Amino acid sequence: MLKDKKVILGVCGSIAAYKSALLVRLLVKAGAHVQVVMTPDAINFITPLTLSTLSKNPVLSDYFKPESGEWNNHVALGLWADLFIIAPASANTLAKMAGGLTDNLLTAVYLSAKCPVYFAPAMDLDMWKHPSTTENITKLQSFGNVMIAPGYGELASGLQGEGRMAEPDEIMALLTADIKKKLPLANQKAMVTAGPTYEAIDPVRFIGNHSSGKMGFAIADELAQLGADVTLISGPSAQVSKQRSVKRIDVTTAAEMLQACQQNFTTANICVMSAAVSDYAPVTMAPKKIKKKGDTLTIETKKTIDILKFLGDNKRGDQLLVGFALETDNEEQNAVDKLKKKNLDFIVLNSLVDEGAGFRVDTNKITIIDRDLKKTTFGLKSKEDVAHDICEKIVTLLKK
Ligand code: CTP
Repeated sequence: MLKDKKVILGVCGSIAAYKSALLVRLLVKAGAHVQVVMTPDAINFITPLTLSTLSKNPVLSDYFKPESGEWNNHVALGLWADLFIIAPASANTLAKMAGGLTDNLLTAVYLSAKCPVYFAPAMDLDMWKHPSTTENITKLQSFGNVMIAPGYGELASGLQGEGRMAEPDEIMALLTADIKKKLPLANQKAMVTAGPTYEAIDPVRFIGNHSSGKMGFAIADELAQLGADVTLISGPSAQVSKQRSVKRIDVTTAAEMLQACQQNFTTANICVMSAAVSDYAPVTMAPKKIKKKGDTLTIETKKTIDILKFLGDNKRGDQLLVGFALETDNEEQNAVDKLKKKNLDFIVLNSLVDEGAGFRVDTNKITIIDRDLKKTTFGLKSKEDVAHDICEKIVTLLKK
């Protein structure tokens, strides 16, 4: 969720500043680019060296860089950030933020930031309970800033009460949950198929195809990144999901893929069938390795069930079904026929005539055709970028 996110961590003067070190580590571990901005007072509680080492970035705290006389551009910093977290947020800084004061770099960056702002207060219980603190927090919340509430416990003053800054792992959990909640596919359940299927001829041979699974895995990752809860049903594939939240079910045959799809279909409201399912399977599997005998070998095969058509026939109104069409000739007409026959919301057409499209390559070139027969053709792109285009279409259709 935080991978590649640009995060400003604002650190104020508070004994809880020692927890900022762990927060920086957790943010960096989650893949975020972290820029620490400290108030002049914060430096008395934790050294910039600690935070710059952990964040792998020089820490900023002055408007000017004393060594070069250069300016730390607070506007550029504020615009750079995808996320601004102030932890610990002292009563003093909260008051300045609420009042629009900019007497240090941190509060100036706050005023320039256009990204979501989170603040984790840390202060003594009486300061926490004071009406002016309550008023400042209410004001900040009215700006859309999100408070990560302090906990109850022993405070630096020796008193017991509310005011302890939330623990770094709690802050991380809250941030992740909040980001997820705001994603376009939050609360959506997706089912994706990927890869080939293998239909056994004998214990050592099978009918299969060259699908690598790359396209389906990229779609599953993109859907997860957009906040969906994703189940990926994959035929034999060496791919791995980049998004840890993707639940993977491994299958081998078309029959197994059908069974896994049937089990997950009712709870899913987004289904993307990108697997290259074998259309035929041997009628029987030879129990032992078939020995070489005559000049020819005939294997009797039978049609597998078309999983996508099965899902299309059983689709509810709240379910969005996406299929693929891999074509070599009469591409668009074949894709439209599949779209209608399988009752899809849209179909993704790959033409094997296009160089760089199809199996075993890292790129793809697609045309999306929807129910209204609206056609959108995209250029040659990485499979990750193609997945992005497909998911953008899903998000658009779900909003309708
Ligand atoms: N598909 C499926 N189950 C099958 C065969 C195909 O779910 N037994 C799905 C694929 O995942 C894809 C779509 O159907 O989303 C179209 O697959 P494709 O191979 O292009 O078309 P087919 O319907 O198999 O027709 P043909 O092979 O004749 O082009």
